[in-house]
Amino acid sequence: MNQKYIVANWKMNGVWSQNSSFIQTLKQSITQFPEGVSVVICPPYPYLMQAKGLLDNSVIAHGAQNVSHQDNGAWTGEVSASMLQDLACTYAIVGHSERRAYYHEDDATIAAKAVKLLDKGIQPIICVGESLAQKQSGETQVVITAQLSALIAGIATKHWSNIVIAYEPIWSIGTGLLPSLTDIEDTCAHIQAFAQQHLGHTCSVLYGGSVKADNATSMANLPHVDGFLVGGASLDPAAFAAIIQAYI
Ligand code: PGA
Repeated sequence: MNQKYIVANWKMNGVWSQNSSFIQTLKQSITQFPEGVSVVICPPYPYLMQAKGLLDNSVIAHGAQNVSHQDNGAWTGEVSASMLQDLACTYAIVGHSERRAYYHEDDATIAAKAVKLLDKGIQPIICVGESLAQKQSGETQVVITAQLSALIAGIATKHWSNIVIAYEPIWSIGTGLLPSLTDIEDTCAHIQAFAQQHLGHTCSVLYGGSVKADNATSMANLPHVDGFLVGGASLDPAAFAAIIQAYI
């Protein structure tokens, strides 16, 4: 059975005082964690140190939302994998559709970022997903296959046991729109079958896009969904705790 993950992507949200109360409340409300489920909070870079302090001695991990594809040097505004390692990050999201759309990150860059993370022992959570137009023209699996093929070309096969894939239909992110349960299951199964065929093993596949407390349980029951990447609902500790409860 694949490891399950519930990952909070705070995006560019949060302030120091709010983050503390969020994390304290979450720690108090989740006293029991099911076996085989990892919970990860990904705040903006400036709050990683704060999250590290608040989550010390907790089973909740902290991770970054991005990383540079370079090691160090004249890359103004960038943050390297070794800096994330210094901050004890164990995970980092890469290739989110907002990074792909607004910062023009392509699959080769995303693969390079994942390699930098893996070199430092940080697990990449790599996002893939189709646009609404691609969904409407029935191209979802073709698009995902192309994204995964490009990633496999850039990341050595031996590393893939440490990679988590997040399937995030772009049109579902922040919109309240969801694919049908059948479509979610089929696409996540497709990703696992692709991994099995090309890597010789499956990998954890998360679903992301408008995950809320009231829809998490039905998706958590899908056989090929190994958890969630949660945006909006991860900003409310009660809502995020309720999503974690879907696995308890
Ligand atoms: P959402 O975002 O849960 O707000 O739809 C998910 C994401 O962007 O990872």
